[in-house]
Amino acid sequence: MTMHGDEDDALAALRWQIEAGADEAIGEDPVDRTTAPRAEPESRTRPEAPPPSPPPRTSPPPSRPAAGASDRQAPVWRPEPGPLESAEAALHSARELAVAANSLAELEAALETFEGCPLKATAMNLVFADGNPEARVMMIGEAPGAEEDRQGLPFVGVSGRLLDRMLACIGLDRSSVYITNMLFWRPPGNRTPTAAEIASCLPFTERHIELAAPDYLVLVGGMSAKNLLARSEGILRLRGQWRPYQHSGLPRPIPALPTLHPAYLLRQPQQKRLAWRDLLSLHRALATGWDPLSKT
Ligand code: URA
Repeated sequence: MTMHGDEDDALAALRWQIEAGADEAIGEDPVDRTTAPRAEPESRTRPEAPPPSPPPRTSPPPSRPAAGASDRQAPVWRPEPGPLESAEAALHSARELAVAANSLAELEAALETFEGCPLKATAMNLVFADGNPEARVMMIGEAPGAEEDRQGLPFVGVSGRLLDRMLACIGLDRSSVYITNMLFWRPPGNRTPTAAEIASCLPFTERHIELAAPDYLVLVGGMSAKNLLARSEGILRLRGQWRPYQHSGLPRPIPALPTLHPAYLLRQPQQKRLAWRDLLSLHRALATGWDPLSKT
């Protein structure tokens, strides 16, 4: 095979991996899993037969072992936590860490210690927020992409550039909005996050909203609109309609406006006119003090 042939093959293999979503190196050295030795079976795998059940409480206490018998207890088999059990543990930990945070800095530090979202293992950086935390508008997108993951900031890639242009149309920029995402780590290859991944981050987003306490929320894309407003309709139905975002920690509901995601607008530019209507509605609320929840 020629040098060119080798190069072409290597490039084709690389392209294939990128298309399959493997577009980030997550280790220093490549691992050849076709020749790597098989892992020893773990000692915590299920034994052939289950351990004997403990004696009933009413039976007399077992006699002491005969002299010389080992004092060591037989190993107790504990099942691996199943997906449900670990998802519940992640949610519990997320709730505990989130409610204990009393400032945005503490919330970010809590996320740094949180181990309940598996996306953290493959991401380069935590992507917490950008913009002005004092702003009247808080925008919540979906999940960081490759550029956001590299920079540790939300909406700094191609979608972010469109978002900036959209905001500029109504006189806003990153000094007048606060921007975050539902997920704080990039899903590998930008795959759709699982329900468990979204659920594990939700308590942090809920606390994020409480701590930032904006006047208005803009829910950018279906993921934030559906999860924060507990709605099942698609974004094309939800967009443009102000709805109250309520949560137990808030003194009053916050008006929330679902809108189309810039990544969708890049694919469907003819839908920009709908996003423009949503922007005008936000502008009206900011400029006139109109209460979007009053239905007038
Ligand atoms: N899309 C999002 O929803 N968020 C980002 O930060 C970037 C792209």
